[in-house]
Amino acid sequence: MTTQKDPKRLQKILQEAAKQARLEDAGDVQPSFTHHEADWPIECTVGPGLEGAVACESKVGYVNGEKGALVYRGFDIFELAARSSFEEVSYLLLYGKLPTRRELEAFNDRLVAYRHVPKSLRLLMGFPVENMNVMGALRLGTNLMRQEFTSLDRLSGRPDPVSAIGSDEDSMGMERPPRGEHDATYEFLPKGASAPCRSAEGTESCLHLISGVATIAAAISRIQKGLMPLEPDPELGHAANYLYMLTGKRPDPESARIMDVALILHADHGMNASTFATLVVASTLSDIYFSIGSGIAALNGPLHGGANEQVINQLEEIGRPENVPGWFDKARTENKKIIGFGHRVYKKYDPRARVLGPLAEMLSGSCEEVTSLLETARVLEKKVIEELGQDKSIYPNVDFYSGLVYTCLGIPKQMFTPTFAVSRVVGWTARVLEYLENNRIFRPRAIYTGSFGQRYLPIEERRD
Ligand SMILES: CC(C)(COP(=O)(O)OP(=O)(O)OC[C@H]1O[C@@H](n2cnc3c(N)ncnc32)[C@H](O)[C@@H]1OP(=O)(O)O)[C@@H](O)C(=O)NCCC(=O)NCCS
Repeated sequence: MTTQKDPKRLQKILQEAAKQARLEDAGDVQPSFTHHEADWPIECTVGPGLEGAVACESKVGYVNGEKGALVYRGFDIFELAARSSFEEVSYLLLYGKLPTRRELEAFNDRLVAYRHVPKSLRLLMGFPVENMNVMGALRLGTNLMRQEFTSLDRLSGRPDPVSAIGSDEDSMGMERPPRGEHDATYEFLPKGASAPCRSAEGTESCLHLISGVATIAAAISRIQKGLMPLEPDPELGHAANYLYMLTGKRPDPESARIMDVALILHADHGMNASTFATLVVASTLSDIYFSIGSGIAALNGPLHGGANEQVINQLEEIGRPENVPGWFDKARTENKKIIGFGHRVYKKYDPRARVLGPLAEMLSGSCEEVTSLLETARVLEKKVIEELGQDKSIYPNVDFYSGLVYTCLGIPKQMFTPTFAVSRVVGWTARVLEYLENNRIFRPRAIYTGSFGQRYLPIEERRD
């Protein structure tokens, strides 16, 4: 954990990052892929991996890769990181406006209540969590939080959604039999309604997930260390409480604020793979818990959220700053991607890395564990930008420095990707709520490159 030094140093870093972004990526955010109202069908050029395809309209967030800009609901990410909190940003992303003080307090109260997921945790502890992949365990835990108060359960005598979620009976078993098309347990389809809507229980499920994913992630980390999960502390904010439940120590204000900033920076990021996966599942009118489980599964991949863990492995493999040139040349010869660099959208410095790099620098002073890794990271960054920046627009991405920051905050390496999910669950839920207002099941096509007219040969006539 950090020792308190200049109380304004974090604020200075955020201001400097914003200034640097303005200098290097000068000009307003270009209005590419922005329309007041899209005129469907849209003509666009699509590449492999759906690159260039437009999946939907959204007011939640905007990424401009050419300008290195990230915007949530019209607010610049640097301003939100400097002035807001994770709770406020969550409200903003979900409801589309900054909350009043009263709205934020009420929102906070619900988040605090939903941090308790005792039955989900009890169920989760019935599985061999200590031997599981952490993201697999997180996905399982999220599914175990699945709620009973779907449209089917809104019969007289059933609890209302808020009290059902807040009670000890916070989850249901997964063995509930499917009841067919007309009675399926859609989270977002009130009984009798023909179209999904932003129903109260749908929004409550989102808050439940935002709080519960953090509790479950922290519990998994402790179970894997042979420790019992900790009860959330209602006096702490979301970021501070997450660190507390993970490490067992109440963080100092600066560490709590750094965690808060990291959560803000990761909360939403356009139509990335995990967001798309979440939306695809939601578009089938499956429920929000299953949808978020898909986001978690997609985030697990090393090309997506799994990269920050690999960055640390990569820095450890390089060993020392002077090894960077040789290591880099070998990686290039072997056609290996340098982890923590490059981005499908950003062709400039990732704005989140602009904050996380200096934060890692600031923390490294009191965190010996990362001092030499950071030196190596800085040399690697310089080398990659020199060699690949101009030619291929390859710059550090969000994952390059986030692991170093997390290490200084006491977060174990295997918890880096779950920590990403703890934040991104906000973007996932906000976009699902938005998408379901005008839902259309996702159904792209594939180009068939196989053959036609094959004749079926009985197995006894086939040769080895
Ligand atoms: C994120 C990523 C998947 C984006 O991929 P993409 O937009 O599909 O980029 P491409 O794979 O098309 O790469 C374009 C070119 O840049 C090169 N490139 C991209 N990322 C690179 C990297 N990290 N290191 C070295 N070269 C890279 C590619 O080899 C390719 O070169 P080519 O034109 O000679 O074939 C890719 O940059 C990557 O794998 N990065 C490393 C993993 C990582 O950090 N992931 C976290 C993302 S937030």
